[in-house]
Amino acid sequence: MKGIILAGGKGSRLYPMTMAVSKPLIPIYDKPMVYYPLSVLLRAGIREIMLITAPADVESYRRVLGDGSRYGLSITYGVQYVARGIADAFLIAEDFIAGERCCLILGDNLFHGAQLKSLLAAACERQAGATVFGYPVKDPRAYGVVEFDDSGKVLSIEEKPKEPKSRYAVPGLYFYDGDAVELAKTLTPSARGELEITSLNEEYLKRGKLHVELMERGMAWLDTGTPEGILNAAQFVEAVQTRQGLYIACPEEIAWQQGFIDDAHLAKIGNELKMTEYGQYLLSLLEK
Ligand code: DAU
Repeated sequence: MKGIILAGGKGSRLYPMTMAVSKPLIPIYDKPMVYYPLSVLLRAGIREIMLITAPADVESYRRVLGDGSRYGLSITYGVQYVARGIADAFLIAEDFIAGERCCLILGDNLFHGAQLKSLLAAACERQAGATVFGYPVKDPRAYGVVEFDDSGKVLSIEEKPKEPKSRYAVPGLYFYDGDAVELAKTLTPSARGELEITSLNEEYLKRGKLHVELMERGMAWLDTGTPEGILNAAQFVEAVQTRQGLYIACPEEIAWQQGFIDDAHLAKIGNELKMTEYGQYLLSLLEK
C-alpha cells in the first residue's frame, strides 16, 4: 500500500503566519506539523510515501524528512503547482501509486487514541473499495459529512452541507483501492473550483464500495489548519505528553516499534541528538 501526505496549497486561514513559515512546517507544540500525519502512515505500516506540496515548500520538507531512510521509509516529493483540490493528489501521484492501493492523509490532520491501531488495520485489510472515517463533532458544517444506517451502510456523503444529515464529519484520512486514480480523472471541479475528495468518495458510494469506520469518543482528531486549531492541538499534545512522559507522533519511535529501523539505528539517531530532550527520549526507549 502506498501513502500520500497532501501538505500544500491554501494557507489563507493561517495568513500572515504563512508569509514567514511554510504552513505545514509550523510546529505543533514541539514538532513540525508534518510529523503527525507521517506518524499515522507509519502506524498503518506504510513504507512508500509521496509528500505533495506547493513548489515553494518542497525544499523545506526535504530538509525535514529527507528520503525517509531515517525512518526506514522511502519518501519522494510531488509538486502541486495550483491548489486544485484534494483529489488532485491522485492525478499528481499517478505514477507513484502505479495501480496499487493507497492511503491519503492531509498534512494538517492530527489523530491520537487507542482505537487508531485497529481502525488503521481494518482499513488496510480491505482489498476492494474505499474507507473513510466518521468522527462525531458538534458542528459538522465545515467538513465532509457522512450519513449511514444502523448496519453501518453509507447512505450519503456531502461536502460542507448547510444542513448536515448526521453529526459525523469525515476526517482527512482516506483509504482507496487501485481504482482511485482512474476515478479521480473523471471528476469535474466543484462550485468552489476544486476537485473535491468528497466527489471521489461519492463515486465509490455510487458503486456500492464506500465503507465507513466510526471513530469512538476516546479518539482525538484535530485540524491544525487555523490559528485556534494550532493552539488547541499544541495544548492537547503538551498535556498528554507531559502527563504520560510518552511522545505523540514521534516518527523514529514508531518506525522502531514497527521494526522499520533496528536498535542500532535508533541509538545512532538518539546519540546524535543526545543534547536535546528528543534525543534523550529516543535513547530512553532502548533502556526499557
Ligand atoms: O479536515 C477534513 C476536511 O478536509 C474534510 O472533512 C473535507 O471533506 C475536505 O474537503 C477538507 O476540507 P477543508 O475545507 O478543511 O480542506 P482545505 O481546503 O482546508 O484543505 C485541507 C488541507 O489540504 C490543507 O492542509 C491544504 C491541503 N490542500 C488542499 C487543497 C484544496 C492541498 O495541499 N491542495 C489543495 O488543492
